[in-house]
Amino acid sequence: MTVSVTPLSASLGARIEGLDLRSLPQGDDLAQVRRAFLDHQVVVFPGQKISAGDQIAFCELFGAADSDYKAPPQRDDDYRKGVMLVSNVRKNGVPIGNLPDGDMQFHSDGAHRASPYLATTLYAIRVPLQGGDTLFANLYAAYEALDDPTKARIADLRVHNAYILDATSRDEESRPGGILREAEHPLVRVHPETGRKALYVNRLMTRFIVGQDDAEGRVLLDTLLDHVERPEFIYAHKWTAGDFVMWDNRCVNHARTDFSAEEVRLLRRYTISESAPAPA
Ligand code: OGA
Ligand code: MN
Repeated sequence: MTVSVTPLSASLGARIEGLDLRSLPQGDDLAQVRRAFLDHQVVVFPGQKISAGDQIAFCELFGAADSDYKAPPQRDDDYRKGVMLVSNVRKNGVPIGNLPDGDMQFHSDGAHRASPYLATTLYAIRVPLQGGDTLFANLYAAYEALDDPTKARIADLRVHNAYILDATSRDEESRPGGILREAEHPLVRVHPETGRKALYVNRLMTRFIVGQDDAEGRVLLDTLLDHVERPEFIYAHKWTAGDFVMWDNRCVNHARTDFSAEEVRLLRRYTISESAPAPA
């Protein structure tokens, strides 16, 4: 089988065909996957039939898992390694996974942690007929489209990000029982592998620009939040069961469109860390 890489939109995303991820890509195939991941930022492998173990093994080609998520003890070993279900399905009224219902604002996974996630993978098991699309936004293109005075103004700024566990909107600031995690990061992030600059700001988590929590700073933040969501930076992924998708959180924001509570949506998620967690 030969591997083919086909762009999915003018901005970002590529479909990779010719690989069965039940076995790990090697040699030239693996090099092509790595190249496509860095060049296209989001890679989609359609028609896969992978177990949680296959998904973990693939992710380990790129780095270590360091999910904050600890699966309930009744789940098997693969799940205890940090595999998570993203689903609206409930068992006895309790969601079987995380991020259960409806739409979700743009964000970058782990932006609320000192060490964000390098990449996230989702494997689609059951998807709704309508809605529940995942939108991906190209943060390199968003940075590059800024005018020079704005680039100069934001060059050395930092953002303060906060996330309440399972929140889908920035307004859920004080959900009962919600666990808050916070971190600061550069607003303009240099990607460690490509050297390109990305506009690292997102609606769900970025609360303020550090040192600029005044009216002027809030206007700048709102302008940037709208800017990174401009349609020309976005690829909307409409899921088919069997899709395995990996995206680069260092240069991509993602969001989810609404879907009906009557339909089942079930994806399996595993994250890859940027660096090993600091010793406790
Ligand atoms: C995630 C996430 C979006 C979706 O798993 O981190 O944001 O479409 N998922 O379910
Ligand atoms: Mn996410």
